Amino acid sequence: MRISVIGCGYLGAVHAASMAKLGHEVVAVDVDPVKIERLAAGEAPFFEPGLPETLAEALASGRIRFTTDMAEVAGSTVHFLAVGTPQGPTGAADMRYVDAAVASLTPYLTAGAFVVGKSTVPVGTAARLAAEVSAAVPGATLVWNPEFLREGFAVQDTVSPDRFVYGVPDGDAGQRAVAALDEVYAQALAAGTPRLVVDLATAELVKISANAFLATKISFINAMAEIAEVAGADVTALADAIGYDDRIGRKFLNAGLGFGGGCLPKDIRAFQARADELGVGRSLGFLAEVDAINLRRRAHVATLAGELLGGSVAGRRVAVLGLAFKPNSDDVRDSPALDIAARLVELGATVLAYDPAANHTAARVRPEVETVDSAAEALRDADLVLVLTEWAEFRELDPRVVADLVAAPVVLDGRNCLDRDAWTAAGFTVRGMGR
Ligand code: UDX
Repeated sequence: MRISVIGCGYLGAVHAASMAKLGHEVVAVDVDPVKIERLAAGEAPFFEPGLPETLAEALASGRIRFTTDMAEVAGSTVHFLAVGTPQGPTGAADMRYVDAAVASLTPYLTAGAFVVGKSTVPVGTAARLAAEVSAAVPGATLVWNPEFLREGFAVQDTVSPDRFVYGVPDGDAGQRAVAALDEVYAQALAAGTPRLVVDLATAELVKISANAFLATKISFINAMAEIAEVAGADVTALADAIGYDDRIGRKFLNAGLGFGGGCLPKDIRAFQARADELGVGRSLGFLAEVDAINLRRRAHVATLAGELLGGSVAGRRVAVLGLAFKPNSDDVRDSPALDIAARLVELGATVLAYDPAANHTAARVRPEVETVDSAAEALRDADLVLVLTEWAEFRELDPRVVADLVAAPVVLDGRNCLDRDAWTAAGFTVRGMGR
């Protein structure tokens, strides 16, 4: 099938490369010429496991081309919208990229073409854009097909997702859209991936409510961590125990620094803002608390670091291991780890930070946080070690080797990811989160 993908960020680049790999003819468009040049040269513009290989395969097949020229999308049957919806100044989603993408795409649409939204948008957006598209090009149809990919597993989540959700209008146009998307996703559907056909508003809500639920789950366990800390309980044992109830489940119950990244934080704020606009703000009032619990974790780590250093971090040497918002990513958008590193710098600590992938992205937004090229360099002569992103490289550190590098054997495990017994046996004072 001839496909276009508008927007080549985390979502679009992975989607475009994966679609070409599946056998479709893909034109991928972005307004950023540097990004397009790199992608066309087979270079992934961000760290994402599996993307370089998928991109290489797609380029070698001759089935993908990258361009800044929207005119090249002409002739595609399905046009995926994969541009960002960042947080605007009021917390509401900034819709300017989505609106601009639709406006620049419309002149190249033909009757029978489908515009398929993938971006996370405020509920009601799809209906508004659908009206615009069909008014401009009778016979063209806009539908919504949200994406649930996780960074670090983006290729896998695109090629074989948990489920497909198609938000389509009633009637023939909707049926034709379902048939077109079924052709796009034929391989995964044949393998038994569930597919739900719903209306436009439901499709938009599925995406944002899934993220709101995940954020709530994480803040729930972090609230339990706050209680466990004062009650002398262990939140990881609590999570294991409640997680055996399969109505609850153990996934996304890891207490620690809380959530960050390009999705969960901005999505809960945008969802709240949209509910307010719709006059049902109270329904999502709890999301303000979810956000507050989440942000308290960061402040708490800074306080704990001071306590572990006998009252203040000022003038002390702190090794920060991890800057990315999660492992297997170089993404530092709203990263709790980077935020904490910057707070410690502000409090007068001498911070040496190391992340296996995110040093360069961190340096761009927080140049005051000094980064080094290895964990050993960060650890040398440290008065305190902070583990802030649970990369395998940190989980697998030999505490006996670390003990020989640091000035004082004290570690704050911000992600409860270290083997506490091994670190204690190596002479460390180990402080976890909620334990
Ligand atoms: C998320 C959703 O999972 C995905 O479905 C959606 O499409 C985009 O947003 P992503 O942002 O890649 O994906 O990250 P995710 O794996 O969900 O983690 C988000 C944050 O939550 C990370 O900072 C992670 O460290 C944190 N987290 C996750 C916890 O603190 N505890 C947990 O138990 C799980």
